[in-house]
Amino acid sequence: MAESETDRRSSSRHARTRDPLSIDEKISRTLKDLEATTSEAVAELFAEVTAAMESERQALIEGGAADERERSQKAKELRDRWLARKGGLVSMIDENWLKPASKELKPGVGRAFNELRRRAAALETDRLIQDVPVRGGAAALPQQATLKFGAGVPSLKITEAATDLTLPGFRRPLGSIHPVTQVMREIEEIFLGLGFAIESGPEIESVYYNFDALNIPETHPARDDWDTLYVNSETVLRTHTSPVQIRAMEKHGAPLYIICPGKAYRHDNPDSTHATMFHQVEGLAVDTDISFADLKGTLDYFARKFFGDKIKTNFTPSFFPFTEPSGELSISCVFCGGEGCRVCKESGWVEVMGCGMVHPEVLRHGGIDPDRYSGWAFGLGVERFAMMKYDINDIQLFQQGDVRFLEQF
Ligand code: FA5
Repeated sequence: MAESETDRRSSSRHARTRDPLSIDEKISRTLKDLEATTSEAVAELFAEVTAAMESERQALIEGGAADERERSQKAKELRDRWLARKGGLVSMIDENWLKPASKELKPGVGRAFNELRRRAAALETDRLIQDVPVRGGAAALPQQATLKFGAGVPSLKITEAATDLTLPGFRRPLGSIHPVTQVMREIEEIFLGLGFAIESGPEIESVYYNFDALNIPETHPARDDWDTLYVNSETVLRTHTSPVQIRAMEKHGAPLYIICPGKAYRHDNPDSTHATMFHQVEGLAVDTDISFADLKGTLDYFARKFFGDKIKTNFTPSFFPFTEPSGELSISCVFCGGEGCRVCKESGWVEVMGCGMVHPEVLRHGGIDPDRYSGWAFGLGVERFAMMKYDINDIQLFQQGDVRFLEQF
């Protein structure tokens, strides 16, 4: 007879008090069915799963295997039970707990799930084979053996446990591409597709290129915002990638369509959104008849390519000494879809980059005639883009080299 809704609810309540559900049964239900509506309840469930996984692994190791065939078979069984792409417990947790999780619980469930996946790596067949002893196999070899060869051949003393050379080798974990590099490459791909070329410039830059040529004379207050580490009175660690605008104009002249990805340095106090070393991508287009409409169209296309078609863009006036007029591009918040949330400070919009029409004085410094040519430029922060794309709440994580963070990308 089919279980009525009342029965189901009462058995689920029962489940919470008497806890009769096995771990497999829990994993086959959603968090809602399990009445896990708080982050504490979710943490408890993940702790249970982790403990179950670890105890099954330990049981296999303690039980050992009669021979290598049995060991491979047992290792594969345990691996498949947890890690099989279809029907494995970890992928069921993804389907039943993570995907349908409520908006409030999802970030916590995601983090716990990633941690579980990291630990589940110990169940890969190769790792298990290394850990599970074979009774009568390598373990049964004498701890100390003296192998005698023919007359005249010195005897070989093996003083350590004999090694079974038929065992699979140790596999070194492979690294992955840093998320900031991944995002930078993604941005490059989009602009390469639009016909832009990639340009680079020095990170140790002259004061002239970093400030003066960009219309920021020594007395300009904007220098305070961008002041940085001075190597000597004429040389700085560049505060932005904008000096490459001048270098590229000098080198190639007009027309010019370039982007410049690279590092920048500032004396900002490190916090969750500021680092002293970070990455920017600069963009510059110079040609005859370039207007603000070209800038808007290009950045709107770029934002949608990067964040997805649903993204809306909004330009607001701003100030940069090297662009006139200057603006800031905001996108509709990727987390709440523009409804308002903690990330967008309830405004529905997140500011993502500075931009504007290249100031005639800057074109002149680059050797380009402002009466004949016009141009637009933008500068964006790569870490901030990566944070939005991957829902990362602390910029410092990018530079801490913590493998648990990095292996998620
Ligand atoms: C500039 O650096 C301008 N050069 C951008 C520009 C280029 C404007 C061309 C107009 C034309 P800003 O200081 O706002 O602007 O920095 C640009 C981006 O760099 C910011 O939006 C932010 O994402 C990132 N950024 C700035 N400071 C830091 C920091 N300390 N840590 C991490 N990211 C930062």
